Amino acid sequence: MPINKFLDKWRHLVVLVTTIFRGSGEKGTVNRYLRNIMGIKKKEDDEDKRFNKDDDTTDYKTDQKFAEHMTKTEAASDFARKKSISEQRRYLPVFAVRQELLNVIRENSVVIIVGETGSGKTTQLTQYLHEDGYSKYGMIGCTQPRRVAAMSVAKRVSDEMGTQLGDEVGYAIRFEDCTSENTVIKYMTDGILLRESLREPDLDHYSAIIMDEAHERSLSTDVLFGLLREVSHF
Ligand SMILES: Nc1ncnc2c1ncn2[C@@H]1O[C@H](COP(=O)(O)OP(=O)(O)O)[C@@H](O)[C@H]1O
Ligand SMILES: [Mg+2]
Repeated sequence: MPINKFLDKWRHLVVLVTTIFRGSGEKGTVNRYLRNIMGIKKKEDDEDKRFNKDDDTTDYKTDQKFAEHMTKTEAASDFARKKSISEQRRYLPVFAVRQELLNVIRENSVVIIVGETGSGKTTQLTQYLHEDGYSKYGMIGCTQPRRVAAMSVAKRVSDEMGTQLGDEVGYAIRFEDCTSENTVIKYMTDGILLRESLREPDLDHYSAIIMDEAHERSLSTDVLFGLLREVSHF
């Protein structure tokens, strides 16, 4: 069979399968469909005998979710044990320039902040903006290039603010949205923000957006730069 004929056929099959899968929303539909067209009869195996699939309420997605695995963390250093988690914030280098930063941010619609690793950019800036009242007009979004970073930073910031993860501070990554209607600080991957911007091009839900690690220049952040330029009219 010529290759493009084959591809046509293959594409057709894929389209067919995905359509059915979306349409019924039932587990195992694709599998059953493929078995039917190939004439394979499924043998009942041990798993099927043990679980009655009609009253099986297991949520198979829970294993893939991270929020509940991030429980209380133990302080590792003397410093962390002696100072409360909110006191520790005042020892970060970024705290020394807090007011100056807020003034600059108030006067300019786009600000580029450069600081050393560990100086508190990722964890503190969102909280400063929240404390300065930006969260009254919408969420404060902060993008991260990696999912793990978005999750663990959100966990740290929710600890610092003394709230539950997913309440005032939440995160959104592909396949997991750990936010609620109370959320004012939202960490997410840049891909998620890009997706949201497709649905809502002027990003009305947000009062401020921080693009962390922007120097890494992922494809999503580069596209977002263009978009944010439109949104912020500069
Ligand atoms: N999960 C965490 N556990 C303990 N301390 C943390 C955690 N995340 C951040 N910190 C503390 O917060 C400081 C600032 O971190 P961060 O805001 O990520 O800095 P930056 O983004 O400027 O590199 C770090 O130096 C560290 O002391
Ligand atoms: Mg950082």
